[in-house]
Order: sequence, then C-alpha cells, then structure tokens
Amino acid sequence: MEESVVAAVLCGLGAWLPPRVLTNEEIATRLDTSDEWIRSRTGIAERRVAGPEMSTVDMAVAAGELALASAGADAPAVDAVVLATATPDQVCPASAPQVAARLGLGEVNAVDVNAVCSGFLYALATASGFIAGGIARRVLVVGADAFTTLVDPDDRGTVPIFGDGAGAVVLRAGDADELGALGPFALHSDGALADLLMVPAGGAKQRRSDDPRDYFLDMQGQAVFRQASTRMAEASRTVLDQAGWTVGDVDRFIGHQANIRILQSTAKYLGLPQDALVVNIERTGNTSAASIPLAMADAQRDGNLMAGQKVLLSAFGAGLTWGATLLRWPALVGA
Ligand code: UT7
Repeated sequence: MEESVVAAVLCGLGAWLPPRVLTNEEIATRLDTSDEWIRSRTGIAERRVAGPEMSTVDMAVAAGELALASAGADAPAVDAVVLATATPDQVCPASAPQVAARLGLGEVNAVDVNAVCSGFLYALATASGFIAGGIARRVLVVGADAFTTLVDPDDRGTVPIFGDGAGAVVLRAGDADELGALGPFALHSDGALADLLMVPAGGAKQRRSDDPRDYFLDMQGQAVFRQASTRMAEASRTVLDQAGWTVGDVDRFIGHQANIRILQSTAKYLGLPQDALVVNIERTGNTSAASIPLAMADAQRDGNLMAGQKVLLSAFGAGLTWGATLLRWPALVGA
C-alpha cells in the first residue's frame, strides 16, 4: 500500500485592514511628493494606518477570527499559531502567544516568525513543517504588520510605500493531492545585504542612538528593487520545476505587494501574462507580512480566485529573504 503524504491544506482565509485611510494627496500636503509620482512609481493610491490605539496583535486577532470562521473550525481545534511579523507589540516576548490567548485557543504552540516581507511564506512553511512532523494538526497562520510604526514620518522615500494590516489562513493536515495542499517551498536569504533595508537602532547591536532616524527604516529602494524581481522569479521557477508545472500552467500569481512595477517585471522575467497577476497594492500599499493573505482575500472576494486554479505565491523582503510556493486554490467560504 502506498503511504499517503501528509500535507498542509489551506482551508480558511480572512483579512483585516484598519479603518484609517491615508491617501497620496494627504501625504503630498506634508512631504515633497505627489499623487502622480507615487501612483506611477509604485501603483499605490492609498494605504491604511493603525492608529496608536491599535497594535499588531489587535489586527492579527481580527484577521484570525475571520480565518477561523471561514475554516468553520472550532477554536479549540487549532493547535498552533504561527504569526509572521516584523512589528511585534513588544520587542520581547513574541506576539503569537497573545494572539492565541485573545482568540481563546488555550495553551497552544504559538510562535513568531520574522522574515519581514517574506514572513508569510516562511510562516506557511513553518506551519507545514509542524503538520508534516506531526507536531500540529491545524495551524492558524497570520501575517500582520504595523509597518507604518517603522517609517520615519519625514521620509518621502518610505512614507508613501508602507501600510498596515493583517491576513490569516488556517492550514489543516491533509493529502498532497487535495485542493489547497501547499508546496513545494523554496526559501532563501542573503544576510550580507541586510543593510539594504534596516532599522539600525533598538536591537542588541545598536541599543541606543541620539539620532531619532536610526529607529526608523532605512531603505535603499533602487537596490532592493533590482534584487526583488529576479529573486522572486528564480524562486518561482524552482517550485514550478519541483512540482512539474510550467509557467503556462499558472492561473494566478500572488506576489508580495511591494511595488506594482516589481510584480510586472517578475511576471516578465517568468514569461507570465500580466493578467495572471493578483494586484491590490493600490488600496493597501506594502503591508509587509500581511500582503499575500490580504491579496488572497481581496481576490477571493472579487471572484478572481476560483477553486482548482493553479496559484503561485512569491515574496521578497528585508533580511534579505525571498521565496515561493504554490497550491491549487481550494473552495473557501467567507474570506
Ligand atoms: O517589501 C520589500 C521592501 N521594499 C521594496 O520592495 C521597495 C523597492 N523599491 C521601490 O519600490 C522603488 O525603488 C521606490 C518606489 C522606493 C522608489 O522608486 P524609484 O523608481 O526606484 O525611484 P528612485 O529612488 O530612483 O528615485 C527617482 C527620483 C529621485 O530624484 P532624482 O534623483 O532623479 O532627481 C528621487 O529623489 O525620484 C525622487 N523621489 C521622489 N520624488 C517624489 C524619491 N521618492 C520620491 C517621492 N516623491 N516620494
């Protein structure tokens, strides 16, 4: 008898954005920029901002509740929470246990994964490992970031780019040939280029700084841009080859929403038609670890993702980190 492969199967989806909208026009009243520049260089028209009354955990809980409802899962059935975030509520401890407690999940396995904008892919892989290893049967995977808290309000290079939000999925143990089964994964990093996107101060290396800008994100945009498309295309090719899919098989490409031009050039490198791209950056900006599940939820709601479609996921971000995975889209409710 053939042994069946234990796979992580996506069975629930939810996403949540804070209500406060920050438009390009509003940014242009404060900084030397314009709606025209931001739209044409990034594809972003507006983003959401979590005010001081709202934290990463708050957003993660809101998205998590929706994902659990969509999975139809009883809360106690979830036996692990993996939270992808680079903006935990506190530097220490991790935020995932607080998310689990607020969701009433009991004393479950709960851990943060920090791979910044690639975090959601790394969290999916971590959860898949828990499932494949028999460590968990049903995992809530959340991508949540309040990235605007890392952005220098006076920096026109980063203020227009980033927004806040959260998205979540539920993964359950299942078979590799089911709709929704995730994998293979390609995950990579290059820490030699860590300084291309970095918050220099506040960690164990540079504990204090007299320059307040050191506590905000320092991004070398052009250098990041150059790396992002090629790396996402490389990782995408790796997982396609491993799965035995061709580029022509891919119905939808859900890439990290950093810049519409990065998504378009990744599609070009891959030879993927532009209409396979799932794009929601216009309304969200770059929400870091939340961007892929937010894009999934928007596409699901808009009827732009159908059960059985072949979906490629890819991300790139600070670290540097990047990766890809794929699945055949499952039939989902709610979202
Ligand atoms: O999630 C992963 C992390 N981040 C990313 O993936 C971001 C990747 N990088 C990017 O998306 C792009 O590099 C940016 C959107 C950040 C910048 O776009 P760009 O086309 O690379 O612009 P640039 O940095 O080459 O700047 C072009 C010009 C410069 O002026 P000069 O030197 O040509 O006179 C900038 O000073 O645009 C100027 N500029 C701006 N002008 C108006 C830079 N930011 C702005 C702005 N408004 N906000």
